[in-house]
Amino acid sequence: MSHSSVAAAQSLYLSYFDGSCRTVTVTEREIPFPDGCVIVSRTNPEGIITHVNQALAEISGYHQQELIGQPHCLLRHPDMPAEVFAQMWQVIGSGRRWMGYLKNRCKDGSYYWVKATVMPNIRQGRLLGYTSVRKKPSRIKVAECETLYARMRAETES
Ligand SMILES: Cc1cc2nc3c(=O)[nH]c(=O)nc-3n(C[C@H](O)[C@H](O)[C@H](O)COP(=O)(O)O)c2cc1C
Repeated sequence: MSHSSVAAAQSLYLSYFDGSCRTVTVTEREIPFPDGCVIVSRTNPEGIITHVNQALAEISGYHQQELIGQPHCLLRHPDMPAEVFAQMWQVIGSGRRWMGYLKNRCKDGSYYWVKATVMPNIRQGRLLGYTSVRKKPSRIKVAECETLYARMRAETES
C-alpha cells in the first residue's frame, strides 16, 4: 500500500511526549485528501489505536492491522509542533471535543493534511477512549497552519 514516490527523502529526529525518540523519514510529497472521504480511528484512553477505517489505511500507506495496537503518534509528522498535541490532550482529557488541523506522515514519508475532530467516548461517566474523525481541510486553512506551525517550531527551537 505504498505510494510510488520520486521525492527526495530526508531523515529527521523526532522526540515524543513520553521521552522516547526516533528517526523518521519524510519527503515533500503531499497525498491529496480524497474528496468526500472521512478518516476515522479510535483509541483507548492512553492513545493506543483500537480501530481504523480503510480510508486511514489507504491514505497513510499502512495496513489496518499494522496500525491497530500502535500509539497514535506513529502518524506524527516532524513539522507538527508538540504544543498542538499538548493542547489536544488537555482538551480531550477534560472531556471536551478538540478540533484542529494536522499534518500527518505516511508510511513512506509523504504527508497529508486533515481537519481533525477528536472526542472522548464517555459512557456512564467512564472514559472508554477517544474517536477521531478527519475530513478534507480547506487549502486556506492548510496554508495558515503551515505558517503558524513553522512560527511555533521556530519559537521552540530558538
Ligand atoms: C483519537 C486520537 C487521534 C489522534 N490522531 C492523531 C493523528 O492523526 N496524528 C498525530 O500525529 N497524532 C494524533 N493523535 C495524537 C497522538 O496520540 C500524539 O499525542 C501525537 O502524535 C504527538 O506525539 P507525542 O504525544 O508522543 O509527542 C491522536 C490522538 C487521539 C487520542
